[in-house]
Amino acid sequence: MDCVRFAVANLKGGCGKSTLALNLAAGLTARGNTVLLDADPQGTLVHWINFEDIEGMPRVIAIDSDLPETMRQASDANRFIVVDCPPALGSGNTETALKQVDILLIPVLPSPPDLWGSARMVEAVREARQENPRLRAYFVRNQVESRSALSRAMRQALKTCELPVLESALGRRAAYRWASLEGISVYQFGARGKKAVDDIESVIEEVLNND
Ligand SMILES: Nc1ncnc2c1ncn2[C@@H]1O[C@H](COP(=O)(O)OP(=O)(O)O)[C@@H](O)[C@H]1O
Ligand SMILES: [Mg+2]
Repeated sequence: MDCVRFAVANLKGGCGKSTLALNLAAGLTARGNTVLLDADPQGTLVHWINFEDIEGMPRVIAIDSDLPETMRQASDANRFIVVDCPPALGSGNTETALKQVDILLIPVLPSPPDLWGSARMVEAVREARQENPRLRAYFVRNQVESRSALSRAMRQALKTCELPVLESALGRRAAYRWASLEGISVYQFGARGKKAVDDIESVIEEVLNND
């Protein structure tokens, strides 16, 4: 089977790129060989590298230069690749990743500045599609509080962007923070990670069944 390549990107720092990338990669690891490429030079994920021997954690590779070549090699040996992108556009790893991946996930927080920042991502997707016409891109709402009017308003606002918004979202949950502090994904977090695992599973199923 062909390798399915994901990128997780947005211009804003702190919107949950690394959180989504790591937990997505952990969820995919249960479905097939998965490698997580940390393409953010200030990479958060590098801190997780020492923990890659933990059962169920994806392999993590820090990218210093040659992302395209690393992706090519990883595509041969893996069922899934997840690229955690830096919070930047402009001749960097984000554009490179967008030209090569099958699926882009754009995490967004329920706040107006985050929404404005993501308009640039819509443009970046349009550009990337000139070289990579099959690129599928979705917004993923992060830190959603289910009863929050803001989260609902946010969902409406995102619908006016030209990219689809996943039905599935990541709730605002302490498990994501605790798991990252302990250097694991929510899948290794036992009962305390259950709701977060449900979030991630639902993202994975929605995206994989949506092509
Ligand atoms: N759904 C969530 N619930 C609770 N905390 C979250 C959630 N998503 C991210 N965080 C926390 O927010 C902070 C920023 O997330 P991170 O994934 O590092 O963002 P980015 O990679 O986009 O800079 C981290 O401390 C992370 O643990
Ligand atoms: Mg990050």
